[in-house]
Amino acid sequence: LEGCFVAKRLAGRKVVLTAGPTFEAIDPVRGITNISSGKMGYALARACAQAGAEVVLVSGQVALPVPAGVRRVSVAGARDMRDEVLAALPGADVFIGVAAVADYRPLDVAEHKMKKKDGILTLSLTENPDILAEVAALPDAPFCVGFAAESRDLDAYAEGKRQKKRLPMLVGNLVQDGMGADDNVVVLYDDAGRHPLPRAPKAVVARGIVEHLAGLLAVAGR
Ligand code: CTP
Ligand code: CA
Repeated sequence: LEGCFVAKRLAGRKVVLTAGPTFEAIDPVRGITNISSGKMGYALARACAQAGAEVVLVSGQVALPVPAGVRRVSVAGARDMRDEVLAALPGADVFIGVAAVADYRPLDVAEHKMKKKDGILTLSLTENPDILAEVAALPDAPFCVGFAAESRDLDAYAEGKRQKKRLPMLVGNLVQDGMGADDNVVVLYDDAGRHPLPRAPKAVVARGIVEHLAGLLAVAGR
């Protein structure tokens, strides 16, 4: 049953996704990161492959197997993720940013393990590139899908992000509904409005996202 679910609606398409957290080094043994299991991004990569797409998954450190039919490129920091996305992008029809990219990284990475000192340690952080915004702004941009995990005011924040990054489609969820879990409840946002999907296992939610995305691609005549 699984193989026939979306009738190969992405056959002949190339999809590039990001998933998981980024890890921003402080010194050789430490860093800062975001909380992300990677489950939603991996489920989506798998659903895209099952729908017939060529899939490249640029992934931060997660404890998940590579889905069948997917090429995984492993990265650590946001800047590596950005570089690997740009390298994978030629020929891509769709870009989906699922990763929990760290918004900031330490300004300086210590060459050697930092030694403990008394008192307060202050770290200076600098902003990371916004991978999704950068891809969406390319002159020959693929169809871009964003994700937004919010802790409140989902509709306002999610639709706000979609507009700000000029995305045709964005998937929103409340962190308390999906983070780390095997189920998720999401709302899809596009130019026509909001489309809530029922609570379901992430594999099923992923198929719903692929169906919606394939429909928008067809309507856009791409
Ligand atoms: N994203 C990205 N690169 C970044 C930050 C975010 O590609 N440096 C992508 C995420 O993968 C996601 C979308 O942008 O698809 C929204 O990420 P989110 O963190 O929710 O939004 P931000 O724009 O970073 O805003 P904020 O964290 O302030 O809510
Ligand atoms: Ca962010």
